[in-house]
Amino acid sequence: MASQPADPIIPIVPIVPHMDIEQVRHILPELIDSMSDAVVVVDRQQLVVAANRRYLEAFGSLPGSVVRHHCQDALHCPEGAGARTGRCSACEAIEIKQPVRRMRNLTAPAGTQRRWEATFNPVLDASGEVTHVVEVWRDITERSELEAQLAHSERLASLGTLAAGVAHELNNPMAAILAGVERLQRWLSREPSVDPRHREEISGVLAGLERETQRCTETTEKLLLLAQPVRAATSWVDVNRAVRDTLSLLNYQISKQGIRTVQELDPRVPAVWARETGIRGVCMNLAMNAVQAMKDGGTLTMRTRSVDARVILEVEDTGPGILPEHLDRIWDPFFTTKPIGQGTGLGLSITRQVVARQDGSIRVETRPGHGARFIVELPVKGRGGTDG
Ligand SMILES: Nc1ncnc2c1ncn2[C@@H]1O[C@H](COP(=O)(O)OP(=O)(O)O)[C@@H](O)[C@H]1O
Ligand SMILES: [Mg+2]
Repeated sequence: MASQPADPIIPIVPIVPHMDIEQVRHILPELIDSMSDAVVVVDRQQLVVAANRRYLEAFGSLPGSVVRHHCQDALHCPEGAGARTGRCSACEAIEIKQPVRRMRNLTAPAGTQRRWEATFNPVLDASGEVTHVVEVWRDITERSELEAQLAHSERLASLGTLAAGVAHELNNPMAAILAGVERLQRWLSREPSVDPRHREEISGVLAGLERETQRCTETTEKLLLLAQPVRAATSWVDVNRAVRDTLSLLNYQISKQGIRTVQELDPRVPAVWARETGIRGVCMNLAMNAVQAMKDGGTLTMRTRSVDARVILEVEDTGPGILPEHLDRIWDPFFTTKPIGQGTGLGLSITRQVVARQDGSIRVETRPGHGARFIVELPVKGRGGTDG
């Protein structure tokens, strides 16, 4: 192919090459309006030139309040509504004359949290100057949820593999230590020459070694139960045991933060037909949130009881509670009030899904300043945590 001199101007080509440009111009408003993405066009003075129907719906704007208004008007600017500070992405696209892509978590007019992928495309004129920016906002909430769940499943799967590896590596030396301790205990009981004053001390040390080694073995077992493959089989799950194991796994963090724990576990609570990993995940997510909420100590209470054919699990803390304006949003994926690196905003959304698949329910009672109580109700024989 013969090389042509590079043309610095990007010509406006019709979307469908065989279509007459006049015809395209004619249907352009309908075309943009029918798009499933939210589209807004701003000029270089940052005045809105056009916005499609989806844009108005998505960001709760009235038709007259957008066109000819400044694009940063917080009434409709999605970035302004998200309370983002710093440079606006449209300005950035004007400045660098290149498309800019951003991910944004925004609250929809209905109050739910949605995730958007926004592209800010600069339009250049014949002299290479930016005349307009076309913003295309795509709602990727569902896709992100799916991706997050996949990532979460992958993390759990790799944690499972890791835990299995660690358990295997630790179990053999633990078994050897236990066998050695038992041999010494047998020797001690058969050896008459040991001074009685020393016998008691040696016996105490050996009992301590035996207890601590057992504890290590149990910890690896608990880790394995928490991190089984996501598709693991359904079985009868002892919720009380799941609660006890959760607290024992969190023991280090709990004592570091000076948190007191209370277990009010009704021994008559029946087992529930479920995936062990799911139920343990629910206990862990709720307990972790409670622990993270009580930075300066407090009391974590985990309670079980049964009513009819349902098991009720309560996780209660004495932390700061949840603000009324956050109450509807805490279940949304990616909603978090924690600093980056500490919160993913996925715990409660996954917990609610696990509970729903079990035909159960979850709700929260809270009073700002007086802690939060999450109440999970699980039918004894639900669908067993199956999909769909
Ligand atoms: N026990 C609690 N006390 C106070 N706030 C809580 C509690 N549990 C959850 N929250 C609020 O709900 C948000 C979402 O929780 P979650 O989905 O587990 O995500 P993450 O813990 O990663 O932030 C938290 O960031 C927090 O604001
Ligand atoms: Mg959490």
